[in-house]
Amino acid sequence: MSGTLELIGLTKRFGQNVVVDDLSLEIPQGHFFALLGASGCGKTTTLRMLAGLERPNSGRILLDGDDITEKRPFKRPLNTVFQSYALFPHLTVEENVAFGLKERRQKQIKEKVAEMLELVELKEFGSRKPNQLSGGQQQRIALARALVNRPQVLLLDEPLGALDLKLRHQMQIELKGIQAELDLTFVHVTHDQEEAMTMADQIAVMNEGRIVQLGTPIELYENPETVFVANFLGVSNLLPGRVVGRRDVVVEVDVDGQRIKAPADRNRAQGELAHIGVRPEKLHVALPDFDVPDGHNAIEGVIVSDAFTGVGTQFQIRLKSGQEVSAFVQNRSTGDRQAVGDRIQLHWDIEHTFCLEGREDPAAGDEARHEAGIPAVSGAGA
Ligand SMILES: Nc1ncnc2c1ncn2[C@@H]1O[C@H](COP(=O)(O)OP(=O)(O)O)[C@@H](O)[C@H]1O
Ligand SMILES: [Mg+2]
Repeated sequence: MSGTLELIGLTKRFGQNVVVDDLSLEIPQGHFFALLGASGCGKTTTLRMLAGLERPNSGRILLDGDDITEKRPFKRPLNTVFQSYALFPHLTVEENVAFGLKERRQKQIKEKVAEMLELVELKEFGSRKPNQLSGGQQQRIALARALVNRPQVLLLDEPLGALDLKLRHQMQIELKGIQAELDLTFVHVTHDQEEAMTMADQIAVMNEGRIVQLGTPIELYENPETVFVANFLGVSNLLPGRVVGRRDVVVEVDVDGQRIKAPADRNRAQGELAHIGVRPEKLHVALPDFDVPDGHNAIEGVIVSDAFTGVGTQFQIRLKSGQEVSAFVQNRSTGDRQAVGDRIQLHWDIEHTFCLEGREDPAAGDEARHEAGIPAVSGAGA
């Protein structure tokens, strides 16, 4: 199998506007790779350069070591699926899928088309026209039409964007299944962090034409390196503080007069100013006199709101500084429940703490998140 992509210093300008900025990436064969970022950050432009539809101002694109930067689009072993499925309305489903094969005068077109329709589970729909299919079915036809050409790499630009939520979740699982079955390289562009996390092996988070962090969904979620990534991928509580101690394994940060520890390998603060970060579902809400276990951080607060969601409760807690943090507590306890107005103690495992550069804007990534239509406060299962 082949299909390893290398992007080396890719840059694209439109006039004065640098849209893709010296971008370098390696996308290994057989990976489901997501480019994740807010609208306008340069995702589509990057994909169009890979497809040969846009010419980079500088940089190179290699496929299995071959330089394809100057190759014409149809000479590249890549295919693209767009958000607008771009099916031919006057052709039947079969004719749509067969289109590329006919253009290239391939043999055994009928068999190949049948095989693809089987793969996307639309065998019986071959003689229909696209407008006689649902959105999800049309998307699967667009997929079959791209895959029938046996590309080494499939490029997908917000392919599920036009589908409603339920269908989108279903198609996420189906797409992932098809990718695994064919062992193809998928490059999937999306602004939807949940979609990227559900499907991708590797995610490159993009902002203003650059990659800000690259990793598996778990790495990015558990160990964000910037405020932007901490806020864009999931919800983070960020507490401003001052670094007061650096040791081999932990950094210590003063937050409101309390000493909070974070693992040294999760520290990104260069100087004195830091943001301590912790995800809402990592927090425990305990009584003020609770004996906090060793290896945990603790901070006091007052509950200002609680929203019971069935699987758990979403708390807002005001700290001494006046800052509010979110805690999501699973519905597992049998005893009394904490309620609004209660003084409590928040505690959490040091291992669940990250420490970010304090000079970064604590709201970085929030706007991007907002534009992507993801609420600022949410929790597991909410
Ligand atoms: N053909 C073009 N001419 C001028 N500007 C463009 C063109 N295509 C994209 N842009 C601009 O480049 C930026 C990135 O666009 P795009 O790659 O489509 O972002 P994304 O897919 O991440 O939403 C946007 O500001 C957009 O307006
Ligand atoms: Mg786009």
